[in-house]
Amino acid sequence: MSDSSFSRRTFLGTAGAVVAGTALAPRSAIAAPAIVLRPPSHPVAVASANGLRGVARAVEMVLKGGDTLDAAVEGVKIQELDPNDDSVGYGGLPNEEGTVQLDASCMHGPTRRAGAVGALEGIKTPSEVARLVLKYTNHIMLVGRDAQRFAMSYGFKLEDLLTPESREKWLQWRANRGSNDDYLDVPATEKMAIRPTGTVNMNVVAPNGDISSVTTTSGLAWKIPGRVGDSPIVGAGQYTDNDIGAAGSTGRGESNIMVCGGFLTVEHMRRGMHPKDAALETLKRVVAMTPPRLLRPDGKPSFGLQFYAVNKKGEYGAASIFRARFAVADQKGARVEDTAVLFA
Ligand code: GLY
Repeated sequence: MSDSSFSRRTFLGTAGAVVAGTALAPRSAIAAPAIVLRPPSHPVAVASANGLRGVARAVEMVLKGGDTLDAAVEGVKIQELDPNDDSVGYGGLPNEEGTVQLDASCMHGPTRRAGAVGALEGIKTPSEVARLVLKYTNHIMLVGRDAQRFAMSYGFKLEDLLTPESREKWLQWRANRGSNDDYLDVPATEKMAIRPTGTVNMNVVAPNGDISSVTTTSGLAWKIPGRVGDSPIVGAGQYTDNDIGAAGSTGRGESNIMVCGGFLTVEHMRRGMHPKDAALETLKRVVAMTPPRLLRPDGKPSFGLQFYAVNKKGEYGAASIFRARFAVADQKGARVEDTAVLFA
């Protein structure tokens, strides 16, 4: 690595994180000004609502001394491997050609490192591949066929990511796509018309104040092949600053990319905002950046977008354009709560 003060040996779990924190002390001195936040007494994990089992798992791991990034990855893997979650990993809805292309990114606060993969095919757990990019390379993002080859070099096997259910949804969508094609219209569910943009984002803070974040997704259903959304974009789909907090997103990725929402939410927290208020403030910027073609007649956005955030003190919050829910786990256990909303 060109930066000798930041060798790959610093990513070695909790013990390595302590070493990295020491090695990085001079760098912190020139970083953006940070408010001093005292760590929580108990781990906290916050996620999109589909991450309910995941936040429980992440907190359990951190309580046993596990690293925050490992905990977040194990948490989101529950959804990646769940064939019934059609927004992520195995069973995620495919692109317009019927191919599942997955995106993921992660950040490890203690070592200030990031990893990401885009348009990855045939691997159920892109969050693990993003963590491998973070851990073993001098790069941040690998994409497409080469991201797949990279994963295979670590022992991942290629698998069919379509389930019978997700294949059927794609077939229905294709049949109803155009009135002028040669596929006969078939009865389809309302969901086929909505084009889901589900995802799972998770942000974890440990009792020592270390923080990590992960976002993983199958992206926009029926997307143009090669499209990557916000999830693999560090600073949009998720972002961690170990001095401040972490934030991530689900929903319409293009609208998040336009405001670098993960980063912006952390920056709002840096200025002292509570995570919930920081997430709401980011959404106001999203609306201000929304072009007329994406506004409904009442002036509100025609899409959904959610942000989830946690700060170094263990305060957490989430906000959405319209009503939504999110998952949190702390000393009170794992539960789902309502997000703050921009438009009731
Ligand atoms: N937020 C997920 C996506 O737009 O791909």
